[in-house]
Amino acid sequence: MLMARNKRKVLGILTSGGDCPGLNAVIRAVTKTALNDYGLDVLGYKDGYHGLVTDKFVRLRGDDVSGILSRGGTILGTSNTHDPYRWAETNRGKIVYHDHSRKAAASYRRNKLLGLVIIGGDGTMATAGKLADMGLDIIGVPKTIDNDLAGTDRTFGFDTAVQTAAEAIDKLRDTAQSHHRVMIAEVMGRYAGWLALNSGVAGGADVILIPEIPYDLAKVGEALKARSRRGKRFSILVVAEGAKPLGGQMVVARTEAASPDPVRLGGVGQAIARGIENIHGLDTRVTVLGHLQRGGTPLASDRVLCTRFGVKAAELAAAGLFGQMVALRGNDLVSVPLKQVAGKLSLVPTDHPLIAAARAVGTCFGD
Ligand code: F6P
Repeated sequence: MLMARNKRKVLGILTSGGDCPGLNAVIRAVTKTALNDYGLDVLGYKDGYHGLVTDKFVRLRGDDVSGILSRGGTILGTSNTHDPYRWAETNRGKIVYHDHSRKAAASYRRNKLLGLVIIGGDGTMATAGKLADMGLDIIGVPKTIDNDLAGTDRTFGFDTAVQTAAEAIDKLRDTAQSHHRVMIAEVMGRYAGWLALNSGVAGGADVILIPEIPYDLAKVGEALKARSRRGKRFSILVVAEGAKPLGGQMVVARTEAASPDPVRLGGVGQAIARGIENIHGLDTRVTVLGHLQRGGTPLASDRVLCTRFGVKAAELAAAGLFGQMVALRGNDLVSVPLKQVAGKLSLVPTDHPLIAAARAVGTCFGD
């Protein structure tokens, strides 16, 4: 148990789900604000919900969060396979599931937490909502490179991932032009096309395929051939990992049985490349950007957003305003009830102005 010094109240914090640029910047902002402005102690659980269930934590002091603003990853560690309500354990070669939510609540109570700041994406917020129903005082902070969390216009980490993908697309263009090829960049984003749409527009992609607009390979081929007829002997195609053909399914790379969402997407780029080569005879290569999009130094815009989110989270905790997730609406920082966002996805509306803008500059969406 963490003994509160001089009876100072203790704020807990954890990072859960896939890592993402800016996690450390949020940890720093929450911790500094809690320590300096509100006289709270801060307890950081290790590896997300794993630490909460197993009661593994560290005390965070000012020095621990100094110099981490620009560092990728999370100093606390994270996990996207430990759900307190569906905790997977292997027993004689078989996976069995346990409900360890009472252990999570017990750690919270044993450490006499004033509240717990939970930094994560939609799955993490769904679990946070359930913990709140059990009486834990929770504040959520929306994280994910996918930008697919309901209730906020922006999740932190997204801008940086878009930049990483756009820079990769710029590099692929060199090879596309030199070799007169179709170069496909497969980007992450899970069931939402935000990352593909934004990086595709930023990288000047000729074709952008997103889950929200099922694609027709014939239409994609037509767009590529039309470019060839105009003397453009190369093309750039950006595809979201969750893109699917008309009447078809997303391509699943693997399943992680222990994970709250066991589906791991991947492989749609190769499927499209085979179609383009076989049907249309165009020389095509695929680059899967994968976890490169999750690492690295957060952009300045993400550092600013993380700092605003973290400070707001500590403020809400100090004011006793729990059961909320901090959020961005326009440029305003707000908070929304966890119940309204828990487990809900934000997908790209097919009439989104950025899709219209991309179409206006000649981008094909495969429809
Ligand atoms: O949610 C973030 C994300 O990177 C998704 O874009 C991707 O589908 C998934 O996580 C990959 O998960 P993992 O790290 O378990 O492979």
